[in-house]
This record gives sequence, structure tokens and C-alpha cells, in this order.
Amino acid sequence: MAIIAPSMLSANFLRLEEEIEMINKSEADWFHLDVMDGRFVPNITFGMPIIAQMKKKASKTFDVHLMIVEPERYVEDFAKAGADILTVHYEASTHLHRTIQMIKANGMKAGVALNPHTPVSVLTDIIGDLDLVLVMSVNPGFGGQKFIEQTLHKVRSLKRMIAENEAKTLIEIDGGVTLDNAHTLIKDGADALVAGNTVFGAPDPTDMIKRLKAVTK
Ligand code: DX5
Ligand code: ZN
Repeated sequence: MAIIAPSMLSANFLRLEEEIEMINKSEADWFHLDVMDGRFVPNITFGMPIIAQMKKKASKTFDVHLMIVEPERYVEDFAKAGADILTVHYEASTHLHRTIQMIKANGMKAGVALNPHTPVSVLTDIIGDLDLVLVMSVNPGFGGQKFIEQTLHKVRSLKRMIAENEAKTLIEIDGGVTLDNAHTLIKDGADALVAGNTVFGAPDPTDMIKRLKAVTK
């Protein structure tokens, strides 16, 4: 069964506490938190103070996805805010190996995200150090976009790379995940699915989370 990580970017921010309670009580596994800086991506969302407030109410893993330039500057701040998994973009961190070690030294699991145009092969020499690879299946910046089909090939080659290196790295898919493609993604090797619009755009988000879990059995 897949790890389901609802993206809080699509939640109703006027009712954030209720949305957090809903996720706490649901079958969801993680909270997916999208941090954007208006530089790496053309959108700005929220940062450490909001995450620290949310942490007081949330009872599940905080999966923090940094879509910011120079993420290494904020590793300690996000650890303090309550991140359990901290994912930085390959395209945003020049000294990626050092950033990964810094994330682990701050007590978090370390993830690397790949934009749709970035081949998985760039991670060959670092895969053994990674707890998670986040494969972007849309261009980062906004919720509610259409899934890019090429992602399925990337998942399969990444799965092979992980096996060849005898690594324990989890594969997470982010963007355009629906009830229609969830099963195929898991079959092809994904472990965790982010879902924003699919969950929060549903008439009954709790039921949608349950259905996503069920189709990925
Ligand atoms: C996009 C974010 C995603 C987004 C997913 O840049 O990283 O996490 O919220 O939203 P959906 O599931 O609606 O594509
Ligand atoms: Zn994300």
C-alpha cells in the first residue's frame, strides 16, 4: 500500500486547523508541505513560522518540499520548525552532497527532488545517501496541473538504480496524481504519492484518501 501525502497547498487556509484534524484522522501517512520562494519557482507559499504552527496540531510525519534557491541556508530553520523529511531540489543546490549530510546532521530524513527535465541518472553517485527521491510529475510551482506521462519511465529507471545500489531510498511522486494513475505509479515502483487537488478538491477528502490507499494496494 502506498504512502499517501496530501499536499496542504490545496487546503483551505481559512480553516487550516480543521484541515489538519481531517488529515490526522484520515488514512493519510504524511503531511506534504510545499515551500516556494518566488525565485526557484514563480510562486510564493509559506515558510517556517506557518510550519511550526501546523506542527502543534498535526500528528503525522512532516514531509517538507523546498522549492527555493540555496536551500542549504535554511536546513537548521526547517528542522526547528518541525520537518521530519526535508527535500531539496537537485537544480537548486550546487553542493548537493554537503546539503544532504547537513539535513541528516540536523536529525531529518534527506530527500532530493528532480524537475521533469532532469534525468534520474544525475543521482547515481549519491543514491545510497538518500532517504527519498521526489520525482516531479508536473513543473513545480502550482497545484492542480496535468500529470506528465514520461514520469513513469523515470520511476522505472530510478527503481532499477536503487536496487542496483542496494539502497533503501523511497520514491515519491508529486504532481497530477489521481485515482486513475495512482495504481500504475505504485506498480512501476513508487512508494509515496503526493495528492493536492485530488484530495482537497474532492467532495469528501477523507474518503478520497481512503480510495487512494485502496487503489494502491
Ligand atoms: C507543486 C507542488 C505539489 C502540488 C501538488 O509544485 O510541489 O506538491 O501541491 O498538487 P496536485 O496534486 O494538485 O498536482
Ligand atoms: Zn510538493
